Amino acid sequence: MAKHRQQPAIRTLDELFKAEPDRLSRLSFELSGIYFDWSKTHLDAGILGSFADRAEQMGFAEARAALFSGAIVNPSEQRSATRLAERGSGSPEDVELATARRERMRALVDAIEAGAFGDVTGVLHIGIGGSVLGPALLTDSLGRRSGSFNVRFLSNIDGAAFDEAVKPLDPPTTLVVVASKTFSTLETLANLTAARTWLAEAGVADPDGRVIGITARPEAALEQGIDDTRILQFAEGVGGRYSLWGSVGLTAALALGWEQFQALVEGAAEMDRHFLQSPVAENVPLIAAFADRLYAEQLECQTRAVFAYDERLRLLPPYLQQLEMESNGKSVTKDGARVQQPTAPVTWGGTGTDAQHAVFQLLHQGTVLVPVEFVAVREAEDEQDPEHHRLLLLNAFAQSAALMHGRGSEDSQRSYAGNRPSATILLDRLDPRSLGALLAFYEHRTFANAILLGINPFDQFGVELGKEIARELADGTDEGNLDSSTRALIERARI
Ligand code: F6P
Repeated sequence: MAKHRQQPAIRTLDELFKAEPDRLSRLSFELSGIYFDWSKTHLDAGILGSFADRAEQMGFAEARAALFSGAIVNPSEQRSATRLAERGSGSPEDVELATARRERMRALVDAIEAGAFGDVTGVLHIGIGGSVLGPALLTDSLGRRSGSFNVRFLSNIDGAAFDEAVKPLDPPTTLVVVASKTFSTLETLANLTAARTWLAEAGVADPDGRVIGITARPEAALEQGIDDTRILQFAEGVGGRYSLWGSVGLTAALALGWEQFQALVEGAAEMDRHFLQSPVAENVPLIAAFADRLYAEQLECQTRAVFAYDERLRLLPPYLQQLEMESNGKSVTKDGARVQQPTAPVTWGGTGTDAQHAVFQLLHQGTVLVPVEFVAVREAEDEQDPEHHRLLLLNAFAQSAALMHGRGSEDSQRSYAGNRPSATILLDRLDPRSLGALLAFYEHRTFANAILLGINPFDQFGVELGKEIARELADGTDEGNLDSSTRALIERARI
């Protein structure tokens, strides 16, 4: 649809800064202890206006109201998306249910801390995709100081991952937390079996008594031998990649402590209110989505790079990969018609400054245009000379300036074209409240992109086919239909 509309011409970033003296104040925003700077993108008043029209035409306000009221927003699965109920928004029934489940989760955290499971020194969290990426990010970014438990995350079916995960754990004092929405995921069930064997072989008397299950399908967890008293349930309407706010967050709540986990949820609720109540011109997730659409559709950017200039946020890029690519990596609209624009770009990234010495060459001089996002934190928490942190931040800001301005040279090898866009997100400090707000920002931005595209961000049928074929191969039921390449690989691997 954007294709038929007259697109305003796109000026260079330097031109935009010259032409719009108030540009920084219009495109930078401060909320929840986070500064968002979208001024070094190609958004201008005309482009923003045309995206605002498009949002209206695509029923953005109605879709947002539907999301916040707990109405069906996932038509292919006839479901609402109820993660907001964990943060106090949604239908009264959803909020009540989420609150009751949160109480149960809290009681379990209290019981573990009070010694109901004996001496606990470690937690082995098993899950994959949305059932691990969120808890791992929270624990890695916020739990470094608390250190009350030795927490390890295990996702891959690769036995080497299992060996590595359990190495520092002491079986008799380890709790196994298994998170799986469906409780039928191959990797997770294989790792659960391996964990039980690991406990039993170490002489733990009742391995099953050390396992906690988190799922939307308690009957499936029961079938896997998890006792009802150790199952935490969450709603079917909570997608895996949106699930860290409730029961799936148990491991993070143990690692951070309940108060901290609660502050995370409150930070997210603050961002929810901003997204729900702010007008278009001040709505940060929506404006970020406008920039995403501009680069994907009009400047044909097929990727978007996110660099965390903070070691504590090193798991943010993989977390965002699932959130954005599993939500919006679609080719059809929610009505089943072929989508007319490019949908989600490939999200990738890493940590700064390491990435500067590996991939930034292409970002500055390559032939593809990559919108870059810098995420940094003003206050350091490390124990080193503050100069480390000052240089870290200055490097992030220097990169954004270099990408934008470039530098001409008579020598084409040494010339930087500039006019390369970036956005910067600067947190005052990395605490649960601001991280909650930041992750909610990314969720709403993903949702806003989906609405502008007319796609459903809440299903993920694309992941099913590969799983199905793997299952058939494992059962030996699909050998006959195999192509020669795949058959040769199986023979060569002798499996
Ligand atoms: O990769 C597909 C997927 O279904 C994700 O959407 C999900 O987060 C992950 O697998 C794990 O699924 P489950 O939580 O049911 O084990």
